[in-house]
Amino acid sequence: MLVQKNITRAITRFAFILNTIFICCHVTSYLAATDKNFFKLKNGQEITIARHTFDLISSTQTWSKEHLEDIPVNGWMVVTTKKQSAGIGTNGRTWHSPEGNIYATFSKKISKNASLNPETERLQVEQVASFAVIQTLEYLGLKPQLKWVNDILLNRKKISGVLVELDNDVLIIGIGFNINMNQKEADRVNEVCKGDPNLISVTSLLIEEGHMFSVEDLFKTVQENLCNNMSLLLDGKFDSFVGEIEKRLTCKIGEEVTVHLPTKREFQGAFKGLNKNGSAIIDVPGKGIVEINDGRMALVIQEEGKLEL
Ligand code: BTN
Repeated sequence: MLVQKNITRAITRFAFILNTIFICCHVTSYLAATDKNFFKLKNGQEITIARHTFDLISSTQTWSKEHLEDIPVNGWMVVTTKKQSAGIGTNGRTWHSPEGNIYATFSKKISKNASLNPETERLQVEQVASFAVIQTLEYLGLKPQLKWVNDILLNRKKISGVLVELDNDVLIIGIGFNINMNQKEADRVNEVCKGDPNLISVTSLLIEEGHMFSVEDLFKTVQENLCNNMSLLLDGKFDSFVGEIEKRLTCKIGEEVTVHLPTKREFQGAFKGLNKNGSAIIDVPGKGIVEINDGRMALVIQEEGKLEL
């Protein structure tokens, strides 16, 4: 009887130890590393970047929204992860997030004195953040394009997407940027997206360039571009981006476009460029100039043989 009791006790103890080891390993692989760095902007200003890095979380966007109190007073909180189990795209879509790509969310408290009111000027944030990815691709010698308002394309396929959210006075910018995703993973995403006319087939740097890239180096370049761009934007300098963004749009000034409204209504007109607030200006026959400022609209190029999105 005593022997039996001792065996049971030993088994229970052994199971407890095994369980503890399992929990420790499990938690370690999910644990974030945190570091705080000073970063000098091009204008000489020093800001703080508090970075939390993960191996796996559900979504850097969700995690950031649950930890807004960690945002440094004078700077950004940045959350990155190798993989996401529940990545979020625009319009409630899923952002497929296998290992090898950039998944980052940048959060910042917007001071009441900032020239930018994120509530009304989200459109500008989306374009300026997308421009940070465009600059990164151009730094590699590539020729990306912006599908207005926040889809970054390379060789007419989507390589990166930007998700901008607001939580009271906090701006939250999520960037997904496909770096080392292989064709098999891209095919999986394209298969899931088949049938949604608003979705473009996806690609990665690996697929387009035929070799792997350093995710960390590219993340650092995106971060540098984003922090500098956002600093200009928060100083009310969106107009300095307008011409640069226009040059990289998938639709060129004067081209015929179809605008799809969220109400499923659509209309055609000539694209006239962006106004100083970042809205798209369309000259609609019989109606005149229309300004589109809802980021959820898709600007579609219609001409034969041209990009059809
Ligand atoms: C889009 O649909 O084009 C925007 C996609 C944004 C995806 C990024 S990945 C990092 C951050 N975390 C998320 O869950 N979503 C954004």
